[in-house]
Amino acid sequence: MLIILELVHFTLYSHGIMPENSNISWVLKRIGDIQAENRPRPSPKPNEVEIAVKVTGICGSDVHYWVQGHIGDFIVKEPMVLGHESSGIVTNIGRDCKILKVGDQVAIEPGIPCYICHFCKNGQYNLCKDMKFAATPPINGTLCQYYCCPEDFCVKLPDNFPSLEEAALIEPLSVGIHSCKLADLRAGQTVIIFGAGPVGLLAGAAAKASGAVKITMVDINQSRLDFAKNYVANEVVLAEREIPQGLSSVNFAKRFSQKLLESGVEQADVILECSGVETCIQTGIYMTKSKGTFVQVGMGMEVVPIPIADIGVREIKFMGSFRYCNTYKQAVQLVSAGFINLKPLITHRFKFQDAVKAFETVKERKDNVIKALILGTDTN
Ligand SMILES: *[C@@H]1O[C@H](CO)[C@@H](O)[C@H](O)[C@H]1NC(C)=O
Ligand SMILES: *[C@@H]1O[C@H](CO)[C@@H](O)[C@H](O)[C@H]1NC(C)=O
Ligand SMILES: *[C@@H]1O[C@H](CO)[C@@H](O)[C@H](O)[C@H]1NC(C)=O
Ligand SMILES: [Zn+2]
Ligand SMILES: [Zn+2]
Repeated sequence: MLIILELVHFTLYSHGIMPENSNISWVLKRIGDIQAENRPRPSPKPNEVEIAVKVTGICGSDVHYWVQGHIGDFIVKEPMVLGHESSGIVTNIGRDCKILKVGDQVAIEPGIPCYICHFCKNGQYNLCKDMKFAATPPINGTLCQYYCCPEDFCVKLPDNFPSLEEAALIEPLSVGIHSCKLADLRAGQTVIIFGAGPVGLLAGAAAKASGAVKITMVDINQSRLDFAKNYVANEVVLAEREIPQGLSSVNFAKRFSQKLLESGVEQADVILECSGVETCIQTGIYMTKSKGTFVQVGMGMEVVPIPIADIGVREIKFMGSFRYCNTYKQAVQLVSAGFINLKPLITHRFKFQDAVKAFETVKERKDNVIKALILGTDTN
């Protein structure tokens, strides 16, 4: 039976009166309703390690499930633990584990595929149809005290890795790295990124680490662009918020790209579209160099009209990008080696019991939030 905790009790727990074997988790009960619940704490399976979760980043998708109850066809039908951007310390290991030890600090890769289908065998496990991804319904997420995960989906942090906080950002960084790999981004190329939120910024960081010589970022929010300019962008462009009445989205995009070209922004080798917004997608296609690559990273509307003739006559490669695969070790190494600095993105930290405040902050985009972290129960 689940015990629903009241916050008063919660405060006691967080002052060291935590019952043994507790596993308090933040559960999305129904739309708009997140509650703390205690869950049983069973032992890890033979191939799994148990991790005391220390840091969890909040992603737009967590907030979306909380507010809307679904993303496309993924619908929250029963209570689900939120969170999928986590790091922690190994507290127990299953009997078949060979790599990790108790006490190791790890970044947790939150999607466990089937291991045996065509895509899994081919190293493209992000496309596995049987993927079990944390906090994608119905799979429970990582925003709990103890999380069990197959050993091969945890990456041990090297001694020179900055901290468990940065380790929680390995997940969204992986999205950025995957998009650059798909684009086959090479040293010396130019990139335009639409959307200067966490994913756009991390795509920018990955592009820079891949050797991009010019990164242009486009957004409708000047404060986000100011941040992007300090963080990774060589050039930023403020986009108009509203499409003038009587203008179709695609004509607006055509006009916008014309304005960009006239103002000296050049077409780029690679476009990383991280906003999911219709006019950005269309503008992005017009801003792709002939023979260049457009990668759709952001998710927004399900169906969008695109200038297909332009894609055709200019031989543009147009591709999708879904989550990531085989990026975690690389991401950890890029951060360890100093090629990518994740620290500036961490703008907010919340105690474990203040998780709801963290979700509200991200939802309302309060105080220039980029990435909000929820810390583990013992860091209060
Ligand atoms: C703790 O609860 C979460 C959420 O229900 C669950 O996913 C996890 O497996 C539990 N931890 C352990 C060690 O069983
Ligand atoms: C996820 O956790 C919730 C809350 O503890 C529980 O009610 C639900 O059955 C779990 N779902 C799955 C698929 O394990
Ligand atoms: C711009 O973004 C910042 C940071 O996310 C946010 O605080 C602010 O409310 C946004 N402004 C507008 C007008 O959307
Ligand atoms: Zn995410
Ligand atoms: Zn598979």
